[in-house]
Amino acid sequence: MAAVRGAGSDDISGSVAVLAALPDYFSVQTHRTLAAEMRIGRSWVAEDDSGEVCGIVQVMARNAKAAEITFAAVLPQMQRRGIGQALVARALVELHDIGVAMVEVKTLDASSGYQPYVGTRAFWESQGFVQIDVIDPLPGWEPGNPSAIYVAALQRTALGPSVR
Ligand SMILES: CC(C)(COP(=O)(O)OP(=O)(O)OC[C@H]1O[C@@H](n2cnc3c(N)ncnc32)[C@H](O)[C@@H]1OP(=O)(O)O)[C@@H](O)C(=O)NCCC(=O)NCCS
Repeated sequence: MAAVRGAGSDDISGSVAVLAALPDYFSVQTHRTLAAEMRIGRSWVAEDDSGEVCGIVQVMARNAKAAEITFAAVLPQMQRRGIGQALVARALVELHDIGVAMVEVKTLDASSGYQPYVGTRAFWESQGFVQIDVIDPLPGWEPGNPSAIYVAALQRTALGPSVR
């Protein structure tokens, strides 16, 4: 099983290499975005037995109680071994511990008809993320790429049914 650890700028090239191995999901522009975000956000990587980066999760704070997972990727040959799950679980625990209540993920909506993202949405749903909206066009995304907005609650944010 790959080992998950917090990452830093020394891990940028290995993490970008993971994106580069997934051209159906990540353009060259996104490689630059990940490199920039790894200098200012929070990152976790998974290492294989030889110490090479085989997975990455990148998180950007949106405010004190909200954060967005902006990148999640695992090398194709290492997928479906629990590495993505381990990365996301580690990130969510650490975000919870610093007071984050809501975590957002944006991915390609089912209405796109784009097959590679069927598994991606299944992954987020398996991790407890709930789709709350579709935005098309999403500012900053290429037209014709409907964005599925997913959230996961790490803490209660409202009083809920106990008010009744
Ligand atoms: C999405 C991704 C990060 C998941 O990482 P992973 O290590 O393959 O996922 P895991 O092995 O931890 O999967 C956990 C669970 O998610 C679900 N899941 C993951 N991939 C799936 C797929 N292709 N189809 C259906 N369910 C899937 C399953 O329930 C799985 O549990 P199981 O294997 O016991 O059935 C990885 O597949 C990836 O890099 N995909 C391409 C890039 C991408 O889509 N990134 C996210 C952009 S928003």
